[in-house]
Amino acid sequence: MHVLRETIKGTLIFDGITPATLSREAAAAAQILRQGGLVAFPTETVYGLGGNALQPQVVAKIFRAKGRPMDNPLIVHIHEASQMSDLAAEVPAEAWLLAKHFWPGPLTLVLQKQDHVPRETTGGLDSVAIRLPAHPTALALLRAAAIPLAGPSANLSGRPSPTTAAHVLQDLAGRIEGVLDGGPSKVGVESTVLDIRGGSPRILRPGGITAQQISTVLQRDCPVASWVQTSGEAPPSPGLKYLHYAPQAPLYLVKSHNADQLLAKLRQLQQDWQQQGKRVGMLVSQESAAQLQGDDIIVLGSRQQPADLASHLFAALREFDQRQVEVIVAEGYGAAGVGLALMNRLEKAAGPRVIEVG
Ligand code: TXA
Ligand code: MG
Repeated sequence: MHVLRETIKGTLIFDGITPATLSREAAAAAQILRQGGLVAFPTETVYGLGGNALQPQVVAKIFRAKGRPMDNPLIVHIHEASQMSDLAAEVPAEAWLLAKHFWPGPLTLVLQKQDHVPRETTGGLDSVAIRLPAHPTALALLRAAAIPLAGPSANLSGRPSPTTAAHVLQDLAGRIEGVLDGGPSKVGVESTVLDIRGGSPRILRPGGITAQQISTVLQRDCPVASWVQTSGEAPPSPGLKYLHYAPQAPLYLVKSHNADQLLAKLRQLQQDWQQQGKRVGMLVSQESAAQLQGDDIIVLGSRQQPADLASHLFAALREFDQRQVEVIVAEGYGAAGVGLALMNRLEKAAGPRVIEVG
């Protein structure tokens, strides 16, 4: 059966997918992937930019489409945990244990790579990052394509990660062959990247699965790697050294342990910028929003629900771009649970513009 699909700048849009049509749509998209094309797909974290992870020319196209630095490695997506053995030279028992607990889900495991995994995919490293996503559309696509898919977040390098197909098209229409629309991503921040080699697990990027959850399963500490840009040392994960998640306007992040001081500082910055004639976007919790006034207040959710706050972050940053605000003032949160991933993304979006009070 021939289905007429909408395109934007030549990029096919696979939308209106239902459980009944999923396998047909996945098969059509998989055919593009098997021919060396690029198709963006939904995951529970953010949308990924899919392409054959084992073909250096395809991987090169992914880097070009995103404008991504070549030394920043890609995550390889699979649909069955057993595929780890096809990609990794060695799979420690702890990796199987974590896979059993958290896959499908927002955890990426860094393992020693096999020779056939191209260095183009791994940014020149001898390790490979592997993830099994929890989204029916992603899994149907991976199964139909029957190849491991490289899947960086489907945004232009440096921009906020996409949590809807519309976000993907904002950045990549005309640069990729297609996008599968699976609705908004639920987690909204990327997977936790965990280096599990050498018997001492450490988190390279905080994400949807917390250090606490990993520690509970492994029954030992799971530190979060710290790395300072100015240290002169190589970062544990190349992604750490690049600018990320940047909205168009400069973002000021206000952190405080004291709720009153936090609110006072948010209000003061808003007024200062407004007095300078700037259009100010406020990125805050519902608790703070109740105490603020202004046209460009975006509420992420309740301070009591870090997962809810995190799930709305990237869409909010893109919304400020659409509204063309000139400066963004963002509220900081506690680092408990997925709050660590949320604050990690907010700090990256802020760069040096972090203000601590109290
Ligand atoms: O949730 C996610 O992980 C999403 C969805 C689409 O799966 N993907 C994603 O990919 O966030 P990307 O490319 O935007 O981020 C991958 C991160 C980068 O910070 C990269 O440096 C790190 O993972 N990474 C990839 N391979 C690595 C490796 N072998 N060693 C250390 N870090 C690695
Ligand atoms: Mg990314």
